[in-house]
Amino acid sequence: MRIREVRGRRIWDSRGRPTIEVDVVNEDGSWGRGVAPAGASRGTREAVERRDGGVRFGGLDVQQALSGIEREIAPALRGLDVGDQSAIDALLVRLDGTPDRSRLGGNALVATSLAALQAAAAAARTPLWRHLAQGRPVRLPLPQVQVFGGGAHAGRRVDVQDFMVIATGAESFAHALEITADVYRCAGELMAQRGRLAGVADEGGWWPDFARNEDALDTLVAAIERAGFTPGGEVAIALDIAASEFGRGGRYRLALEQEELDSDAMGERLVRWIERYPVASIEDPLAEDDEAGLAAFTRAVGSRVQVVGDDYLVTNAQRVRDAAAAGACNCVLVKPNQAGTVSEARAALQAAREAGYATIVSARSGETEDVAIAHLATGWDAGQLKVGSFARSERMAKWNEGIRIEGEQPGPAGFWGARALAGGRR
Ligand code: PGA
Ligand code: ZN
Repeated sequence: MRIREVRGRRIWDSRGRPTIEVDVVNEDGSWGRGVAPAGASRGTREAVERRDGGVRFGGLDVQQALSGIEREIAPALRGLDVGDQSAIDALLVRLDGTPDRSRLGGNALVATSLAALQAAAAAARTPLWRHLAQGRPVRLPLPQVQVFGGGAHAGRRVDVQDFMVIATGAESFAHALEITADVYRCAGELMAQRGRLAGVADEGGWWPDFARNEDALDTLVAAIERAGFTPGGEVAIALDIAASEFGRGGRYRLALEQEELDSDAMGERLVRWIERYPVASIEDPLAEDDEAGLAAFTRAVGSRVQVVGDDYLVTNAQRVRDAAAAGACNCVLVKPNQAGTVSEARAALQAAREAGYATIVSARSGETEDVAIAHLATGWDAGQLKVGSFARSERMAKWNEGIRIEGEQPGPAGFWGARALAGGRR
């Protein structure tokens, strides 16, 4: 099926900021749509978004990127086989011509790439996850769901970015969400009881009105218990430290505790948390520029805990291979817009698999109602899915799409469950 038309438009994301939506229309009239999400705590080596700068919408408008879609991307894609995703993505990368995708913009590229993928599934008259699975058996992912937001998503009220839960005792995707719903509600009740309920952070997690980072961990354990579950039994904790946000050059500044730690001390602090709390997964425990620290931390806890690389690996296949050689991390966070195209994100996932690393497909803090991410996680059989908290429709749309996909599956056998986790807590 050939591409007839490519159209871009500006829409608005979950933070009320401009973003890019692209429609790819096929010759038979079938079509697909892709939307660029946006991060707030980005790795320095991510594909660069094209933003207009200046004063309009705080410099975040995307008119230049839209004009690139109209003048360069649309004419180049017209007439191409929509089913040949790698050729489409290779063309996008070639057209852009920069190593960091800054000319046409990673936002223009990812929206176009996702739109073409959706259009190919539409041409085949099949749901996206099934189109990606290509007849292979695939399973619904194990969700990582935020309960408290922090870091760049909560005005840096606490240093740690995501306090999350993993329903390790769940027998299906829908069951994992049932467990999560109870824990999320109970966490809100605990905050209300203490007079500390103050709305939600960017991804829908409860606002982290805590005096210390560890208070959030204590409250999370209490919420799991209040919901009637055993911490470390049916429900485990996952953290995204997002350490690149407060650490550089081997120095880590915890604003809440008013402490400055070196790489070893930071690693030791996290090991202490892992020993005190039922932490099954920990993301970006050290900064993106601290590979030695990440390798040492992985050596210390990687056999018990999943160590996830986000800012450090930026969904880049070569960086995943280099990390494996260095022994840093045992799991890769896969964000299509960090790479720029669907094929490059897929290549990072493949490199992770070859290195024996687990994978988590992830949304960004700036999102829309687009649910493609739930299909990518399932169709790629990635094992895990992270889309933020259990509130606000840009998050719930993705969890709810997982329920719909699972409805088309044979049942519990089609769910990864705790087996998806790296690090031995299965
Ligand atoms: P971001 O953060 O989408 O705001 O960059 C998400 C994450 O660090 O996982
Ligand atoms: Zn992260």
